[in-house]
Amino acid sequence: MNIILLGPPGAGKGTQARALVEERDMIQLSTGDMLREARSSGTEMGKIVADVMDRGDLVTDEIVIGLIREKLEGDKKGGFIFDGFPRTLAQADALEALLAEEGEKLDAVIELRVRDEVLVDRIVGRSTCGSCGEVYHDTTKPIPADGHCTVCGGTEFKRRADDNEDSLKNRLMEYYKKTSPLLGYYHVKGNLKRVDGLAEMKVVKASIAAILDK
Ligand code: AP5
Ligand code: ZN
Repeated sequence: MNIILLGPPGAGKGTQARALVEERDMIQLSTGDMLREARSSGTEMGKIVADVMDRGDLVTDEIVIGLIREKLEGDKKGGFIFDGFPRTLAQADALEALLAEEGEKLDAVIELRVRDEVLVDRIVGRSTCGSCGEVYHDTTKPIPADGHCTVCGGTEFKRRADDNEDSLKNRLMEYYKKTSPLLGYYHVKGNLKRVDGLAEMKVVKASIAAILDK
């Protein structure tokens, strides 16, 4: 089963993708994580995308499609969760073609619906475990009082360079201009499903499970 999690920055795509990996042996393909990894390992591509990401602009289609192409050729396990990809119509077309080349198809596109007003709080309150990538939030999912990650026991937590209000405004603008047209695109194709992303994390998780188990 191959699915897309679609929604603005802070909608909960990464949080829900990690839950699916744990429970269904699926593979999370987050282009944001891949780009951050390229930056931290100092590759040429990482240097090119650094400023673009910090501003909250979109990286070129060519770069992100290249990243996804490499991953689709490997082991497919329980299927792919596309998290933060596609973000433009060109990326959506490329994904369809790449999946077809692998004899695969898209089973569902799940929109996490949220209100813009909650996003600032979600983004500025976010931190991530430096070892395993578990996502925390200062109020809704705080780091345990003993300072250890609940998943791996790690003690280092990071905040993202683009998790500030200015960059978030730009990320949201990019979402409405370039990514939200995908909602209409997938609706017409018949794969779009909507989930209330404002509900508690475990409720969102159950709503997604209900769609996948149908
Ligand atoms: P990317 O890393 O994809 O960031 P994003 O889309 O802005 O999304 P986020 O990771 O910020 O949010 P999320 O929806 O995963 O929320 P999360 O689960 O963490 O992209 C970063 C940059 O890379 C882009 O700006 C662009 O430059 C580039 N890029 C990436 N992909 C690209 C592409 N395809 N094309 C071009 N450029 C690309 O949750 C957020 C917080 O809320 C957490 O603290 C969490 O604990 C909390 N939370 C989650 N769910 C709930 C809930 N139900 N209730 C309460 N709190 C919740
Ligand atoms: Zn961890």
